[in-house]
Amino acid sequence: MKDRLLELIPEFAEIKDDTLRENTIGAWLDAMDRGGWTPDDLEKFPFSLLIEGLDISFLEHIRACAKMSAAVHDLLIDHYGGKLTLNRDFLMAGSLIADVGKLLEYSPDADKGAKKAEHGNYLRHPFSSVGLGWARKLPDEVLHIAAVHSKEGAGFRRSPEAIIFHHADFIDFQIFGGGY
Ligand SMILES: [Fe+2]
Repeated sequence: MKDRLLELIPEFAEIKDDTLRENTIGAWLDAMDRGGWTPDDLEKFPFSLLIEGLDISFLEHIRACAKMSAAVHDLLIDHYGGKLTLNRDFLMAGSLIADVGKLLEYSPDADKGAKKAEHGNYLRHPFSSVGLGWARKLPDEVLHIAAVHSKEGAGFRRSPEAIIFHHADFIDFQIFGGGY
């Protein structure tokens, strides 16, 4: 399960700290185990059930947002040099953990790949992502990125890393027809 997950999401390697990387991967394994998913299922459902007819998979979305976050980080550090401090490892772990809770918000569906799970009627994925990351002892700076990445974070002061991921996520969400 772990090897296949790393094949499908090579961006985990962008997290350079071994403990942080392993705990981030661990949260994914926990979510897949608890939600009844296999790694290959992640290509079979759209990243949002809120967008009608969306043909971008959960996996494509996760990877696009992680890659955008890395690119924005690298551009800003290159451009501003010492005027800006960002933690790239926290940003990459946060990017990869923010949507893992969707594996509890949704459940596998034979027809459509995924459907809203009972859990999702009570907790949207920013909450379940934080819970999964918390159980793996991810740092607060990483949990924060998951907690405030979506509409639930509106009005809360976002860290610079959370601002980057929030916008990367919304670029992908809105460019493919997502609202709010
Ligand atoms: Fe999300």
